[in-house]
Amino acid sequence: MEAQSLEARMYLVVQGQLDMEGALTARDRVGIQDFVLLDETTETAFLSNLKKRFSEDLIYTYIGTLLVSVNPYKELDIYNKKQMDLYMGVNFFELPPHIYALADNAYHTMLTEFNNHFILISGESGAGKTEASKKILQYYAVSCPSTTLLDTVRDKMLMSNPVLEAFGNAKTLKNDNSSRFGKYMDIQFDSQGDAVGGHILNYLLEKSRVVHQNHGERNFHIFYQLVQGGEEDLLHQLGLERDCQHYNYLTQGECAIVSSINDKNDWKTVKNALNVINIDETDINHLFEIIASVLHLGNFHFESNSKGQAILNSNAELRWFSSLLGVNAETLRKGLTFRWIEVKKDEVLSPFTTDHAIYARDALAKAVYGRTFTWLVNKINESMENTNSTRKTVIGLLDIYGFEVFNLNSFEQFCINYCNEKLQQLFIQLTLKSEQEEYEAENIEWEPVQFFNNKIICDLVEERHRGIISILDEECLRPGDATDLTFLERLEEKMGSHPHFVTHRLADKMTRKTLERGDFRLLHYAGEVTYCVVGFLDKNNDLLYRNIKDLMRQSKNAIVRECFSSMDPDSRRRPETVATQFKSSLLKLTEILMAKEAWYVRCLKSNESKQPGKFDEALIRHQVKYLGLMEHLRVRRAGFAYRRRYDVFLQRYKPLCPATWPHWRGEPADGVEVLVQHLGYLPHEYKMGRTKIFIRHARTLFATEDAFERCKHELATRLQAKYKGYKAKGEFKKQKEAATKIETCWRGVQARKEREKRAWAVKVIKKFIKGYMTRGEAKSTDNSEYLAFVRQSYLNRLKDKLPKTVLDKTTWLTPPAVMTETSELLRKIHSRLLVRRYVRGITPQKKAQLQLKVITSNIFKGKKDSYPQSIAQPFEKTRISDQDINVKVLQMIRNEQIKYSVPVIKYDRNGFKPRPRQLILTQTAAYVVEEAKIKQRVLYTSLKGISVSNLSDGIIVFHITCEDPKQKGDLVMQCDHLFEFLTKLSAIANKQNAIKVVQGSIKIEIQAGKESAVDFTTGQEPMVYKGKNGHLMVVATRARAR
Ligand SMILES: Nc1ncnc2c1ncn2[C@@H]1O[C@H](COP(=O)(O)OP(=O)(O)OP(=O)(O)O)[C@@H](O)[C@H]1O
Ligand SMILES: [Mg+2]
Repeated sequence: MEAQSLEARMYLVVQGQLDMEGALTARDRVGIQDFVLLDETTETAFLSNLKKRFSEDLIYTYIGTLLVSVNPYKELDIYNKKQMDLYMGVNFFELPPHIYALADNAYHTMLTEFNNHFILISGESGAGKTEASKKILQYYAVSCPSTTLLDTVRDKMLMSNPVLEAFGNAKTLKNDNSSRFGKYMDIQFDSQGDAVGGHILNYLLEKSRVVHQNHGERNFHIFYQLVQGGEEDLLHQLGLERDCQHYNYLTQGECAIVSSINDKNDWKTVKNALNVINIDETDINHLFEIIASVLHLGNFHFESNSKGQAILNSNAELRWFSSLLGVNAETLRKGLTFRWIEVKKDEVLSPFTTDHAIYARDALAKAVYGRTFTWLVNKINESMENTNSTRKTVIGLLDIYGFEVFNLNSFEQFCINYCNEKLQQLFIQLTLKSEQEEYEAENIEWEPVQFFNNKIICDLVEERHRGIISILDEECLRPGDATDLTFLERLEEKMGSHPHFVTHRLADKMTRKTLERGDFRLLHYAGEVTYCVVGFLDKNNDLLYRNIKDLMRQSKNAIVRECFSSMDPDSRRRPETVATQFKSSLLKLTEILMAKEAWYVRCLKSNESKQPGKFDEALIRHQVKYLGLMEHLRVRRAGFAYRRRYDVFLQRYKPLCPATWPHWRGEPADGVEVLVQHLGYLPHEYKMGRTKIFIRHARTLFATEDAFERCKHELATRLQAKYKGYKAKGEFKKQKEAATKIETCWRGVQARKEREKRAWAVKVIKKFIKGYMTRGEAKSTDNSEYLAFVRQSYLNRLKDKLPKTVLDKTTWLTPPAVMTETSELLRKIHSRLLVRRYVRGITPQKKAQLQLKVITSNIFKGKKDSYPQSIAQPFEKTRISDQDINVKVLQMIRNEQIKYSVPVIKYDRNGFKPRPRQLILTQTAAYVVEEAKIKQRVLYTSLKGISVSNLSDGIIVFHITCEDPKQKGDLVMQCDHLFEFLTKLSAIANKQNAIKVVQGSIKIEIQAGKESAVDFTTGQEPMVYKGKNGHLMVVATRARAR
């Protein structure tokens, strides 16, 4: 019931994603995604679910937060970028099970809880551990925030894999890419979640593989990669042939070429990777020299002489080896064929047998390769190292060689399987055992789940003084003839009755048949393994003759020199044995892991033949059993996925309940109770322990966590709003205070300014008054400013009121007393200025006219009444144009230039009858013309005088010399343009002085000797008539305009 309802709830959660990845999720509903939700917890139901999912390529299934993975042996399209994006930041149960979900959850838990984690990937050889660890690393490489700098760190982490796999992985019968070393890698993250560095710990490389491979297996990949993929030049330089068959160390397994492995391509990848992880050209060359030298060493061939002493016959190989590593060939030859014994400080050479020589050769090959591998790991660590000292959290990835059983199992399998026992023990400690112990300690009602605790096997191997490793070490160190067989005997003695230990001698009849005499069998948690003791002592001792070590220390190859110089050359103490070193390093590893939060990936191998789609039920059932998956499931189902101390739980989730937020005053446990009630936890979903709350299903917690995330945002928004309000208020207050302050200051400044202004004004006014009062006195301090003011103000006013024309004499501004003199000067200057301006504006025509006007003035000014009115009348050039003069007349006077013509009234000499005539002035004479007739020609020479009256009339009298018979007497005319006419005449004939202005009467000569007169008077109307006295009477008005 419960499981169903949970599933239904989970389905709802998954619903959200259905639309996005509908197809995938729908397919993933095959079977059940989490074994915890299985109806029954039998092995059969477990396997059937696994199989159902496997047949749909659904290789991942959860047991709570543990991930079970079944090796599909084929590429699945579930590791692409899209999938990675899908799983980023999504809660565990919201999407189908995936290695990315586990990686992502570990990452986010690390970020929120700021603690360290590790992912334990276990499973037997070929189950997919290394693949899983690579997928996790790739996921972090893609999903973590990135910068250029971090990208290089990331590249290095990713690229460390192909390099380490080339040097540390090999094809075995179980796995074409079997890890032959243990690897624990810490990925370091900074507080933002950026991957900023990495560190690798390596564990016990299976060095024996360098010199020996079982049938169907290969040496480490790098050898084949170099021989197959190495460039011609390189091979030539290293003295290698492109033929694996040529090398003893590559051919023992008789499968140098494998279809599933592309050595040529891998070679390129590795070379590129070596560059990425910052190994320089020189070191890369040294590395290849080492690989090549090991291959040459493998071809060293020893023969026996007649005395049974070994002789090295491979001169070419010896030369290559010594030249590649830069060591002395003869010393090496001696080192490999003689034992150097120290007798009382002398060195004595004792010849080897061929077996011995081969042993020494192989020991050298293993040592060189093994140490180079460690050097490589250190180099990678250097390049991934993060030197920044800020606090970091880590996620550790443990990918160690898996449990393995071969037909012939040796010391290496013993170590590998022991390691797997330790990891299983760690798993038990962290899950089954501690979990159940905790329930007891916390008083949680609990039905203990039975499980197999492999501690007994761990003890059997590692217990001090009594364990197999101790006994092996004792045999190795024991003086006398210790051999592998004596070691077996010692084991039998000590372990005789141990339920997990059997030998041929100890076994019952049935079992004995399956055991050789030199075997011992351990009943591991994962199954029985029969180990052959041959080689145990040697491999555990891992001895290298001292003279060979000394030789290597002098190598010209920097890597070899470094690798061999790290040990104290003179140490007489035996180094720790291999098994003991391994034991201690596993102990350290356990400590490292125990300090971190664990996540588990359990890898299952689907079949032995590496076939895709094949679900070998028996094989998988076996793995499910020994990996303790059923027990884990039972504990999970019965138990609780999550627990936290009350105070920690309350502290984190208290914002979710009004009663606990912001403070809970009572006991934390009560607060938690109130909180979970508020959150609607059902009674079976949690239990209250003594110090902790236990939550049964992870998804309950995830729901709470989701609510917390939402609430955090709301809270953050609220806090933000509050804070903003608070800040704004503070800011406002500050601004207001500032404004008031500024205002006060400003008012003060203004008031001060006002006061100063007033004081100044009083002073100025006083001074002004005093100045006014003393303005008439001589300049003194009292009146100087006032006077200056008066002067300035007068000048200012004057400036605007200056006369605009020369004639304007009236507008000059009356000056104050002090300015009288200045004003007069200015006036003169100004009038001069106006005159000058006026004069400049006069045209030549006007000038000529003015000159005429001057003549007029000279003659008439003050003499004739009508003169003033005439001044403003401009003179014309002529008053009769040439067109208006009769042609005949023009004809007659064509030799004389006409200067001026004007219409006149001519009065007859007899009777004074008025006659209109034209008067034409030429250069020499004046002509009186009537139409086409010239009535009279008056030569200027005969014109002795000209008379006009002083009144305003227009009468002109020409006095003509009468001796000239042709002349008719004086000429009396009236002309409207009197001044113009007479002025022109004066100018033309130079007659200024001949013109007389007469008062009262002008005497005229009518004929030679006969006189008359023109009498002038003034009257109302202008008139001209003949008087009774026979004179011509002229009445002029006083106000005559003309
Ligand atoms: N998720 C997977 N998808 C496809 N193939 C896989 C997957 N996991 C493993 N394999 C296949 O199985 C092979 C063995 O896997 P892997 O090398 O990871 O095993 P292992 O557990 O590390 O073994 P060992 O203990 O020997 O190192 C891989 O080379 C690959 O062909
Ligand atoms: Mg592996």
